[in-house]
Amino acid sequence: RTKALAIAIDGPAAAGKSTVAKRVAHQLSYIYIDTGAMYRSLTLKALTEETDLDNEDQLADLLQRTAIVLSQSEDGQHVFLDGEDVSLDIRTNEVTSHVSFVAKHRKVREEMVKRQQDLVKERGVVMDGRDIGTHVIPDAEVKIFMIASVEERAERRHKENTEKGFDSDLEQLKMEIRKRDEIDSKRETAPLVKAKDAIEVDTTSLSIGEVVNKIVTIVHQKEMREG
Ligand code: CDP
Ligand code: CDP
Repeated sequence: RTKALAIAIDGPAAAGKSTVAKRVAHQLSYIYIDTGAMYRSLTLKALTEETDLDNEDQLADLLQRTAIVLSQSEDGQHVFLDGEDVSLDIRTNEVTSHVSFVAKHRKVREEMVKRQQDLVKERGVVMDGRDIGTHVIPDAEVKIFMIASVEERAERRHKENTEKGFDSDLEQLKMEIRKRDEIDSKRETAPLVKAKDAIEVDTTSLSIGEVVNKIVTIVHQKEMREG
């Protein structure tokens, strides 16, 4: 068979990264790694322990004492924080509205990037986040920068929340997404930017299936060439 690759998928909040990355990984029999879940897990712990989110050293110290394990099972990805399944707890509005403040600290990012790179010792991986193509796997064979309009992204999240029976306010979602994009794009350490060699995919008017096919096609072409 052809050589297994590393696929980096970056982009702003709710562009469709994780949904698409999971399906691409499944189709290619690659491993999927959700780096956002790692920042979310640390944020959950920091909120629980009432750590000062502006205090870089305290957060870095907290991370040193924190085990985060991503595991795949039949019913999807599970996230374990110090041995406890927090897969749902890391998706609350409370965590979502604080995570960018935790993720902006250099010392936190350095440790996270180290841990993420340890997970990519072998190829055959799809990793999504904000700095994967630029910092975590700068030599990834395939880099995708996924974007969509703020309106479309907020509507997708709104639909998702409503279907799950959660409270959801479209205008508030738009504000939250804009705010998070701004913090993620303007931070000093590894901000959200398109890597020079990334392919931009605008998913605003594409279905999930269309985006998946587009990326799988790009990967197959690359696999042939890398032989
Ligand atoms: O799924 P969603 O776009 O809402 O967010 P996520 O991918 O779970 O990431 C949550 C937050 O973690 C982002 O808004 C970033 O602040 C941070 N993050 C990051 O800084 N670097 C990454 N590689 C992944 C996430
Ligand atoms: O990981 P990220 O935050 O970039 O986005 P996501 O959680 O994968 O996707 C946000 C929502 O958009 C999910 O409910 C997806 O089902 C939906 N989606 C969509 O409707 N059309 C796409 N082309 C991609 C995602």
